[in-house]
Amino acid sequence: MENATTMGTNRTGFEMAGEQGEEALAYAKSNCVNAPPDNGDFTEMHRIAVEEADRIGSVPIPGTIKGMAKAGLAKLTGDKPEVLIDKLGERLAFERSGTRLYEALILKCRAAPREATDGLGGVDLARLEQIRDEEAGHFRLVSQAMLDLGADPTAVTPCADVAGVMSMGLVKAITDPRTTVPQSLQAILTAELVDNAGWELLIELAGELGHDDMAARFGDALRTEQEHLATVRDWLRAAVVAEAS
Ligand SMILES: [Fe+2]
Ligand SMILES: [Fe+2]
Repeated sequence: MENATTMGTNRTGFEMAGEQGEEALAYAKSNCVNAPPDNGDFTEMHRIAVEEADRIGSVPIPGTIKGMAKAGLAKLTGDKPEVLIDKLGERLAFERSGTRLYEALILKCRAAPREATDGLGGVDLARLEQIRDEEAGHFRLVSQAMLDLGADPTAVTPCADVAGVMSMGLVKAITDPRTTVPQSLQAILTAELVDNAGWELLIELAGELGHDDMAARFGDALRTEQEHLATVRDWLRAAVVAEAS
């Protein structure tokens, strides 16, 4: 596998389409550009679908007495513990996906010929493995936090489900054998940006609900995530700039 961007017989663009391109342009002008973007049918159909749809799952009722007591207490004080449990479930799913994304990138780097990973801005396997292990550590941290609340970390919460759907594209991009290491780094960068924002929100939420110990532990995780983000951003920048020059 080469990590170089090359010129080739890419025929996706208008310029390569010849006469058919002109025909397509004429068709678009006569049929689409002057037509209203939506005659109302689609909007109405979408409104009905949203109105009738069920939500994506629910947060399970805590299965332990401790959890029930905590959840009950929070309810009495006006808090909704299910919001925190849902976001913990999301973080748990994301850290698990993150571990797998790094594992896939490590496999890609190992499979690439030596000359393909040289000059990639210092991407190194030892650091990649360290980050992968830290993502797995964060998974365990969130899992324990859920257990401490009496929540079930094996349950897929609604936000966990949505997070899984969103990260499918990233998994596909990195595990595709045709993608290069820099292209995979771009996908990892996307994940790390979301990862950092996710931890920031979770820390704020835990603090708001009075879980100060949890917020402090998550603060340590956020600092580690900030280092991941900086590392990946540096690698990607170096790889792209080096290739371009
Ligand atoms: Fe993470
Ligand atoms: Fe991370």
